[in-house]
Amino acid sequence: MARVIIYSGKGGTGKTTISAATATMLARAGYRTLVLSSDPAHSLADAVGAPISRDRPTPLAPCLYGLEVDTIYEWRHNLGGFQQFVASTYSSRGIDRSTAAELANQPGLDEILALQRVMSEARSGRWDMIVLDTAPTGNTLRLLAYPEMIIGGDAGKKFFRVYRGLANIARPFKRDLPDDRFFDEVGGLLERMDELANFLLSPTISLRLVLNPEKLPLLETRRAYTFLNLYGMLVDAVMVNKILPRRADLGPYFDYWVGLQRGYLEEIEACFTPTPIFRTVLQEGEPIGLPALEAIGRATFGEQDPGALLFDERPIWLEQWNEEGEPGHYELCLRLPFLSEGEPVVLARSGPDLTLTVGRLQRTIALPRILYDCALGAHRYEEGVLRLEFREATGEPLAPLAGSADELRVEAA
Ligand SMILES: Nc1ncnc2c1ncn2[C@@H]1O[C@H](COP(=O)(O)OP(=O)(O)OP(=O)(O)O)[C@@H](O)[C@H]1O
Ligand SMILES: [Mg+2]
Repeated sequence: MARVIIYSGKGGTGKTTISAATATMLARAGYRTLVLSSDPAHSLADAVGAPISRDRPTPLAPCLYGLEVDTIYEWRHNLGGFQQFVASTYSSRGIDRSTAAELANQPGLDEILALQRVMSEARSGRWDMIVLDTAPTGNTLRLLAYPEMIIGGDAGKKFFRVYRGLANIARPFKRDLPDDRFFDEVGGLLERMDELANFLLSPTISLRLVLNPEKLPLLETRRAYTFLNLYGMLVDAVMVNKILPRRADLGPYFDYWVGLQRGYLEEIEACFTPTPIFRTVLQEGEPIGLPALEAIGRATFGEQDPGALLFDERPIWLEQWNEEGEPGHYELCLRLPFLSEGEPVVLARSGPDLTLTVGRLQRTIALPRILYDCALGAHRYEEGVLRLEFREATGEPLAPLAGSADELRVEAA
């Protein structure tokens, strides 16, 4: 399978530029490289300064191909019935048809269709490297959460089956119920999303967060980092772009901004270490075209291979509870940076699933099989790692027991 690198981040930080720069370097090194954009704004063609097809990979340079996924086409092709149902529901509520069709394009689903294209390209054998340039953070993150939000583990799948049965019974009596095509497509979508969720967790895929040294991007990137850790994706680099050069001739007006950025650069290091951090200076002109992109890539990565997995720590793992390795006594470790002291973490266990909610973020973890019959016990938060004790049920109950919801508070270690 191809190595897949996904660049994600807030709007305008430089995702498209850095994606194209990375792909250009990889192609130069002789890897068969595809740079693919899931952004409906189609800015990849603008960055490379050449037209790019929305249908099949377009050759851009030796070993380098580009593709801008046409989500409207993918939608019609995969989800026409779903779209029609949603649109007709809206229009029966008095919303006009064209607005209804627009509303039926759920923002996260656009990205899911693009990721499905990535998955099939990655498995095609045509590519050594695939670089994905995504739309701004919000969508991508919501999309990553989708498989679990929609499917909701086994419970969600059961719900879907039951609902389909009920719709069949109720259809003669009610106008607005979805038909079989809707259920087939949604059922298919759920299955593919399940597959996609697994694909995203494979060890050849990593995600890199792009940000600028400013307050708001930093806050958002920290949240994204925690979320991705909850989700279990490999974040193998943090890319800081548009750093002002330290030059004496910029004058006092820029001194203020250079000083401000310096503060944020220090904060960025404190936040994301040990994940590798790469820095890109604000160029004198817009980096458009392959030569400018390659130059920006070289300046950013230096001697490092941009295609390498730059960091491979797993955010979720299992340990023995104590050094003696007492049988039936484990510790589920979740690397969750940036929880602050006193921040509530809500844990709810439902059969084989453990749902963790931190603020508005939620993640359902399929527990390792070995923990199925274990009760959840004490917890600690140490050096960015939330450690949850699990012990095989022996008769004497451990609080809280399986099936209960419990709120933990992060305490200083
Ligand atoms: N290091 C840099 N130096 C100078 N200009 C840059 C640099 N990085 C990006 N730019 C310019 O900043 C603008 C935004 O960059 P880019 O399109 O790569 O960001 P993006 O994160 O993909 O944006 P969007 O969220 O809209 O997709 C572009 O005009 C690009 O040429
Ligand atoms: Mg872009």
